This record gives sequence, structure tokens and C-alpha cells, in this order.
Amino acid sequence: MRLRLILLTLLTCFSSATAHSTPSPSPSPARAIASEIDAKVSALLARMTLEEKIGQLNFPSLAFPHDAQLEAVRRGRIGAMLNVVNPDHMRDFQAAMAQSRLKIPMLFALDAIYAFRIAFPAPIAWAATWRPELAQRAAELVALETAQTGINLTFGPMVDISRDPRWGRVIEGAGEDPFLAAAFASARVTGYRKGGLATSAKHFVGYGAPEGGRDYNGAQISAAELFDRYIPPFQAAIAAGTETVMASFNTVNGIPVTANQWLLSDVLKNRLGFDGIVMSDFAAVTELVNHGVAADHADAARKAFNAGIDLDMAGQAYDRYLGDAIAGGRVSTAQIDAAVRRVLTVKYRMGLFADSPGGVRKIPARPKEEAVRKAAREVARESFVLLKNSGATLPITPKSGTVALIGAAAIATNDHSWYGPALLEKPKTETLLDALKARMGRGQSLLFAEGFADPCGLAFKDKAGAVATAKAADLVVLMAAEDCVASGEGVSRTDLGLSGVQEEMLDALVAAGKPIVLIVDTGRPLALADVSAKVATLMVTWHPGTEGRAALAEILTGQYAPSGKLPMTFPRSVGQVPISYSDLPTSRPMTGDDHSFGDRYTTGYIDERPTPLYPFGHGLSYTTFEYSHLEISAPRMGRGGKVEVRVDVTNTGMRSGQEVVQLYTRQLVAARSRPLRELKGFEKVALKPGQRRTVRFVLNAADLAYHDDDGKPVIEPGKFDVFVGGSAAADLESSFEIAAD
Ligand code: BGC
Repeated sequence: MRLRLILLTLLTCFSSATAHSTPSPSPSPARAIASEIDAKVSALLARMTLEEKIGQLNFPSLAFPHDAQLEAVRRGRIGAMLNVVNPDHMRDFQAAMAQSRLKIPMLFALDAIYAFRIAFPAPIAWAATWRPELAQRAAELVALETAQTGINLTFGPMVDISRDPRWGRVIEGAGEDPFLAAAFASARVTGYRKGGLATSAKHFVGYGAPEGGRDYNGAQISAAELFDRYIPPFQAAIAAGTETVMASFNTVNGIPVTANQWLLSDVLKNRLGFDGIVMSDFAAVTELVNHGVAADHADAARKAFNAGIDLDMAGQAYDRYLGDAIAGGRVSTAQIDAAVRRVLTVKYRMGLFADSPGGVRKIPARPKEEAVRKAAREVARESFVLLKNSGATLPITPKSGTVALIGAAAIATNDHSWYGPALLEKPKTETLLDALKARMGRGQSLLFAEGFADPCGLAFKDKAGAVATAKAADLVVLMAAEDCVASGEGVSRTDLGLSGVQEEMLDALVAAGKPIVLIVDTGRPLALADVSAKVATLMVTWHPGTEGRAALAEILTGQYAPSGKLPMTFPRSVGQVPISYSDLPTSRPMTGDDHSFGDRYTTGYIDERPTPLYPFGHGLSYTTFEYSHLEISAPRMGRGGKVEVRVDVTNTGMRSGQEVVQLYTRQLVAARSRPLRELKGFEKVALKPGQRRTVRFVLNAADLAYHDDDGKPVIEPGKFDVFVGGSAAADLESSFEIAAD
């Protein structure tokens, strides 16, 4: 399997490089495999009827009863299916495929994103670890669990850049930054593929920028911004070998992506060189009628197909109407052959055919549950973000005295595995109460009150009891959770506060006069300015999965220190949204944190500070870090050059900890306004008390390119400021220049 993947990776690299290289006299193994696949696909295509060809482009969702679908498979009219999770159904479809004339293997797809049986934390938490290698391992394990069923394709990773926390799907991605998101896109594609699943980088493109944060809404994005901000993670996914890309539901500049020839064919297939399958999202082809760009489903099928959608997911418009479109000359057979060629080539590359030149797909061994749990625990542990910790309230030590744990979430085994549709049998999950009891030292006393009627605090169970418990303790830990179904698809919000009565509970506990540690499970940044001001400690735990509570107990008791950093800005209020550290400068720059109250004619609000509550990249540890000796290897470089940036990081506290060292740049003068800061490097380092390390980053001039209005990269000479530190607010500063050649 591993060898096959290596060969396939080589093959992908090779095929994208062919346009620029001279043919070598003795073909490499990858080239030999590619041309063998090509020959096999041509031979197969030559044997296929038009009906069978269209069948390869038809990708329905499992429907009940499925007899009609089984018959369609036997007739070669279905080439891929989604949501076949039940092993009996899988067997039925495999058998039907084996009875078809050409026996072309099927794609079986599922949203196996961060959970199959054991739930990992949600993907936004993966990004909060700032350790792509952990995400790779997590993806691999989810894939290994999923692949046992016969599923061979996952609908992930979601690599949409999202800057608007009102949009519920921020939970599925890596946050607001293209550099960070590209690193995680690559890691996730690599991991899922290693675990035996093909991948689908989604949703191409701009789905994460819906106006008003409303799911499915249109986005207005210039070409320059598309290439600067939204496309890099897709490029990373393609470079990592993603076999498919899913088009997004939304419009970009008024044209639905599903019918957008410029985006799908000119940009994705031609400019980015993606030679795998482009699929629609669920029913997106027929929904072109709702968008008002197609008169009916037949028109929708033709428009989507001509734009570049190869596979019609769950719409069956290709099945019904592509034949007529060909007969009427509105779609050519050459176009059909090109789309089918992509589908068959991917199936060969995946090793689905018995004679696949690169090797035949073997379902890898099921991973041991312990190994999956261990990895899930590690991701959770490294993803929690300590936003505030006044007076070193955490960790809990014998000096903390009696601790009152409050909240129904502390006894819930709900692991928020919202996108784990295949959770057939719920795995054992430790509650926070049990996990904390097991980890608090002897002589430390733990009290508990449920307080709420449900884990998400939608209603009280016993507010007075919770307050009495708090009064009897020295320290209060309040476990709050965003409403369990409040993140994900179709759940945009206008209110980004704590859900239900949780803030009311917090106020009652504050009145009890004890220091409060507030833990918040959330799938998106929340607007917690008031809440944060009331508590000593605030920590975000995302949706942490099956091992999440055990990991939390380890962190609360100081067995490990928190080390997560925000992959997305936390605003002070919803009115600031969208807000990002990499906004462009304005004609009236902000002058300080609270300028807007005193200096009216600058960018800001008259009723709110302009700065975020917690910036991108922020996150504390139980120790402190100091940055010093920032050095750049040369004061200037040419457009083809590079410099090394070095900085010393010292653990200046009393405990061991990890810090994510972040490198930002700003181009001071250019033909177009450049962001106030842009992330260009990061590394998570572990340091013991007093320990110092020099961290080095290489900055290539090419990494500092931006895109013009045609989406062409430009490396513009000029001065760049460099900032290094533990968040986007880093203040250790230096500079260098890119010289005109
Ligand atoms: C979502 C996709 C998902 C697909 C299949 C759609 O509604 O937008 O992300 O992969 O459904 O479940």
C-alpha cells in the first residue's frame, strides 16, 4: 500500500511537471505507470456505451429501498455512491457492480472527516494544535477505521478559509489564514490517503466567505484575493495528491461555482493543473435552478457539465439529461470522454481495478483502539487554547483548595462528533467529572453540581444548588458548551455568546465571589468580551471528541500545559465580524487599542474597540516565554533569493511548556495595499524552565509574492517588516528588503 502511494505521489508530481520537462530517454516508473493507466483507460473507454459513460458521472446518495439503484449499478449507470455505511448494503452494491457488463469499480464516499468510531476533536481543533503532523496522524487513523467498511473516498478535508464565525462550518476547517490552512490541507490529504481513503478537497472556492455569514450565501471576491487567500490551501491539497475536488454551493461574484467555467476549468483544471475528478456538492447541479442561472434540470446539467463538473453528486441530472444534451449537440462526446477519462484514471490510480498498474488497493489493517484513542487524546490536549489565566489560577494544585465543578457538560459523554455519521456503536467516553476525580491529588476535594438541565446549558436544573456548591469551594470550574448542534452545515448564527442560560449561571457564580475558571466547548470563535472580563481563567476546548474530557482533566491538573493557539480571531462583539489580523491598512489607521473613543476619524467603531478580544495565534501556557535576538541573515535579497530569520525563545517560567513561534511579515509599499501582517512561518517548540532555543525560518522571496488582478503572482521589490512572537500581535521586529534586479 505504502509503495503504491509513493508511486502515485510520484506520478502526480510527474504528471504536473510534464509540460515543463524534456522527455527522459528511459521512462521513470511513475511515468510508465501513468502511460499504462492512460492506455488502459483508452481501451476501456473504447468499449463503453454512451449510457455506461454517463453512468460513470452519476453519483447518487443511497436511497431506500435500494433495488432500483442496484439495478442501475448492474446496467452500468452508477459509478459512485455516497453514504453506503451498512456492510450489507456495501456487499449488495459490490455484487451488483460485479454483475455489470464492464465491472468498473465504484467510488464509495462518506463524510468520514474526524470520526468514524472514536471521535477526534473537530478539525478547527486540529488547526489549533499548530502541529500539522498531528492532523496527519488523526486523518490517517480516521481513514483506517473508515476504510474497513469498503468506503474508499472521504469528503475531506474542508480547506475553506473562514473569517466569519457566524458561519457554522468554520468548525470543519483550519480557520482564517491561508498559510496555516495550506499546511493543514496538505497534512490532512496525506493522512487520509495514507489511511487508505482517497480525498476530496472542498469546497472550491470562496464557500467560507458568504456575505453576512449565512451558509450558502454568495461571496464577492476579487481575483487577486482569491489567489492570495482562498486558493492556497487547494493548491496544497492538490500538491499532496488529492484525487478529487468538490465545487462549492455558493456564487462567486454572481456566478454559482457549479456553473463557473472560469473557476472550474480555467483556474482549477488548467491553471492549477488539477487532473483528478471535480465533483459537485450535494444536489448542487439541480440547485442551479434555484440560483436562477438554469431554466430547468436539463439546462442545469448542461451548464454544470460544460463548466467542468465531472461528477454530479446526488442530483441525478447527468443521469437524466446528459444523453439528450449530447443528442442535441449541446454537449460533445469528446467532453464526455474527457470527464469519464478523469473518473477512470482516478479509479486506476486508487488501485480499484484488479489490473491497476500502480498496484491494487488493499484495505489496510484496522488500527488498535488504544492507538486511535492515544492519538485522539494528544490532538485534544494540544488543541485547547488558554485565553486568559489571571493570577495563575490554573493549574489546579493542592493550593487551589476545594474545587467546585459546575455544569451538566461535566457528566456528559456527548463527544460532539457531529460529522461522524458512521458512529455505529458509541465508544466508551470518560466524563470530565470522572476524569478529574481520577487525576486530582489525594487530599484535594472536588464538589460537583450539574446546574443545567442539559450539557449545553439551554435551561437550568438547579441554579441555587450550583451557587451553594460554589460558595462551599475555593475555586469554581464552570464547564460551558456551545449548543451541540450549533456548529456545522446550515447553522449560521447572529449571536456569538454562550448559549442558553450559561451566562446567567456565570453571573450567579461570580456573585458567589470565588475565582472562576470557565471552560468553553465551541466549534467557532465566540464573542466573549463580557464573559472574559468576569472570570479569572478562560479556556477554549473546541469540540474535543471521545478522549477530550480525559485530556481536559490532564490539562486542568497540570499534568500537561495548554499549548493551543487560535487559528481564528476571537472578536469582542458580533459587530466587529468579519475581523482578521491580516486586514488591509486603511487611509486612517487605528492608533491604539481604544482610539475609537478618543480619535473619531480613524478606522474603528464609536461604541467598540477596533482590536479583537484575542488575536489570531494567541494562546497561553502555564509558563511564560521570552523572545530575543531576532536576526535576519541578510538585509536584502533578489527576487529569486532567500533569507534566514532566527530568533531565540526562552522559557522564563517555572514549568515546562510548548510555544508556537510565529513569523509574520508586512510589505510596506507596493502597487496594492498589502495586509497589516501575514503569517509566513510557525514552529511549536517544547522548552523546560530556563531552557532557550534558537528557531530558524527560511523566507524565500517567492513566499512573499502576491497576486494581481489576473491572479498572476508578483514579487514586488521593497521593504518588508518582520515580526516574531507568540501571536499575530508579536512585537519583536526587524526588516529586510527585496531589491529590484
Ligand atoms: C456538504 C458537503 C458534504 C456533502 C455530502 C453537503 O451538504 O456541503 O461538505 O461533503 O453534503 O454529505
